[in-house]
Amino acid sequence: MTKMKTYNCGELNLNNIDEEVTLSGWASCIRDLGGIVFIELRDRSGFFQIVADPQVNPDVHRAFEHIRTEYVITVKGGISRRPEETYNEKYPTGQVEMYPSHVEILSKAQALPFVLDDCDVSEDVRLKYRYLDIRREKMLNNLKLRHNIVTAARNYLNSQGFLEVETPILIKTTPEGARDYLVPSRVQEGKFYALPQSPQIFKQLLMVGGIERYYQIAKCFRDEDLRSDRQPEFTQIDLEMSFVEQQDVIEIVEGMLAEGFKAAGVEVQPPFVQMTYKEATERFGSDRPDTRFGLELFDVTDIMEASTFQAFKDVIAAGGTVRAVKIPGIANYSRKDMDDVRNLAISFGAKGLAWVTYMEDGEVKSPVFKFLDENQIAEIQNRADAQKGDIVFFVADKPKIVFDVLGRFRLYFGKKLEMIDGNKHNLLWVVDFPMFEYNEEEDRYVSVHHPFTAPNPEDIDKMESDPANVRSIAYDIVYNGTELGGGSVRIHSPEMQERVFKALGLSEEETRTKFGFMVNAFKYGTPPHAGLAIGLDRFAALLAGAESIRDVIAFPKNSQAKDLMSDAPGEASLQQMRELHLKSTVKPILH
Ligand code: AMO
Ligand code: AMP
Repeated sequence: MTKMKTYNCGELNLNNIDEEVTLSGWASCIRDLGGIVFIELRDRSGFFQIVADPQVNPDVHRAFEHIRTEYVITVKGGISRRPEETYNEKYPTGQVEMYPSHVEILSKAQALPFVLDDCDVSEDVRLKYRYLDIRREKMLNNLKLRHNIVTAARNYLNSQGFLEVETPILIKTTPEGARDYLVPSRVQEGKFYALPQSPQIFKQLLMVGGIERYYQIAKCFRDEDLRSDRQPEFTQIDLEMSFVEQQDVIEIVEGMLAEGFKAAGVEVQPPFVQMTYKEATERFGSDRPDTRFGLELFDVTDIMEASTFQAFKDVIAAGGTVRAVKIPGIANYSRKDMDDVRNLAISFGAKGLAWVTYMEDGEVKSPVFKFLDENQIAEIQNRADAQKGDIVFFVADKPKIVFDVLGRFRLYFGKKLEMIDGNKHNLLWVVDFPMFEYNEEEDRYVSVHHPFTAPNPEDIDKMESDPANVRSIAYDIVYNGTELGGGSVRIHSPEMQERVFKALGLSEEETRTKFGFMVNAFKYGTPPHAGLAIGLDRFAALLAGAESIRDVIAFPKNSQAKDLMSDAPGEASLQQMRELHLKSTVKPILH
């Protein structure tokens, strides 16, 4: 400890009676009870009560009268036992106190813009005065938890022979699918650095460099639309390994996650479930299934194909599918409720919503029964295992839309009907992701993970003829329905890498200028390698029970990618613009 602080406030207890100590911190709560002044002294470790009695020590009492909330003070004195009837069970230090012999104000504080223990402060105000928000117990605990998770991950990876290596922030571009943040170069006129969307390329080049096991707590930058689980700059626990296959990476990450959970007081037991992408989407309508509750989807395409319902038959003939989900106990929904449910499905992207209602009185009715015969109706009930009180919903469309709509529908009802057990910690791997997906806007196939991901050897023949059905060796780790991280086995031959770039519609020119240095590096002896990155902010937010990743980031951006505290991004001066060879189409405000 230091001269200004021989103990932390929260550490003191009956074992310290009569010890002379020096404490420093913030005056968090000041009460004057009949002339005797009590101050809760707060530092990072907790609270400690200091008392000034005008009868005992008039000098200190006079000094106390000048102290206001959130002043920074230092006190010296002996630790004494509180009278038993004044023990405070709320604090570990609640049985002791100090009548200081000396007090000094180190720094004054203006009235704060909000009261620290008020729970209803708007997030904008909290973000504007983030340094004050961090004084609050909740933020402090979140930052401590984040630190503990990182420490656990580092310790684990160190013990497994990983080297922590830093990769650059001013780089060319990384193909993680988001927009790049660009930094104009002063020295190289008209040129720009990109900020890394991830260390992907560099960590693979570290494998070419023979590092074999790398990790980094890496800052990543992605200019994308923000949500509660996305920030423009965020942190990954990023790792890469040589001479490994998918299962080796999975086992390392399981060990690391188990340590991370332990840091938050949660025991999870590897190995975690592994589920193919196909199974996850077919059963749960999602590639990040929340398996804490049922409401699984089932297939009725064959029944509908044999029916006389033309709308569904047309969808099926065009390569579509019809899937269903049973929602229990809502057969008493009114017409208005059902309109709302239909609108919900439409807002999720469905063209329509069909259903069968199994009324409590035994009646079964449906707007589509006129298209179905008795056997078909019975088969639906059989597959759904429908009981009185249930409603079975159907959506017909292209598979992607059907799964997406029903997956979101399932989550909506899981939450609404309170079917999700908050005490469960379901971790699962989703494996066998498709290699490519068709992007309608760009009218070409794009990588589902990223273009350095290896194709499944069984599907390589289909790469040019049937790209939609090529599986990759990519895997995601999912926790209670949130994607915590993802990775893949990488391509390590320059020929295969070029073939994949071609399948993605990248011209040779584009490949050369963007990734030529990487493909070139692969020509000098590249070990088979694979890796993964965990989204640290998401991981910490979930373990902290925080609603947003902003709550586990010391200085986050708001949903407009602004830092409300410093007001970044700000304008550049004309001088700066000139030096950077930039002209703005927006009138600069600074001169
Ligand atoms: P990916 O793009 O899947 O993979 O990212 C890995 C994890 O990073 C987190 N994440 C984010 N967290 C907060 N805000 C964001 N904007 C954001 N974007 C992503 C997620 C995600 O699962 N280089 C590959 C990894 C690899 O192949 O090794 C990569 O970046 O939790
Ligand atoms: P229609 O005969 O077109 O009125 O449709 C009968 C029922 O099927 C209505 O409840 C529609 O909402 C529903 N429906 C129509 N198209 C679809 C679709 N693609 N998926 C699910 N339900 C649909």
